[in-house]
Amino acid sequence: MALPDANLKDENVVWHPHAVTRADREQKHGHKGVVLWFTGLSGSGKSTVAGALEQALHAIGVSTYLLDGDNVRHGLCRDLGFSDDDRRENIRRVGEVAKLMVDAGLVVLTAFISPHRAERDMVRDLLDKDQFIEIFVDTPLAICEARDPKGLYKKARAGELKNFTGIDSVYQAPEAPDVHLDGEQLVTHLVPQLLDVLRRHAIIKP
Ligand code: ADX
Repeated sequence: MALPDANLKDENVVWHPHAVTRADREQKHGHKGVVLWFTGLSGSGKSTVAGALEQALHAIGVSTYLLDGDNVRHGLCRDLGFSDDDRRENIRRVGEVAKLMVDAGLVVLTAFISPHRAERDMVRDLLDKDQFIEIFVDTPLAICEARDPKGLYKKARAGELKNFTGIDSVYQAPEAPDVHLDGEQLVTHLVPQLLDVLRRHAIIKP
């Protein structure tokens, strides 16, 4: 793990290494740690696909953890709203937590809109090159809006909810995601595609 840097608020905080390393923990799990970063509009299917993939991985003995926007915002990020600054801080915290979980040797699945390229790149930069896989769940806004599982698009269109992604807040689609999923496909088709990706990245065995 890299040494903490100039962003430290107090220079007297010194990093110290531990005797048990990530490599030791990965060996115990029998696989590498990695972040599978799902991004897409609200209602695109991020949580559903990530949840189904986690189930499939768990069933074959992979140690996983799913971090989900709606859940994390009930605890770790309960003080944050949906302004650009708050979304940035949301993703920064989640990135740091995901990094700790990768250090613990886990396959971490994250399901956050994460609408800004800069923040997704910030998380990518926090990790080693082979520890971050960006997965774009590409579902057209009209489909997300028709699904509207939480009734939030309806509220946003009625002007009852401000800064809603895709309506009056930006979503910057990834230009070169590691994985580009067609969010209109059934989860039963998407999960095998993702398992293939993990095999190709040597995260799970063939
Ligand atoms: S992010 O933009 O900071 O990455 P995050 O994924 O944590 O967002 O939370 C998104 C979820 O919060 C949505 O799926 C939706 O259920 C809910 N939500 C409530 N208000 C908003 C809003 N203004 N914009 C987007 N999502 C919202």
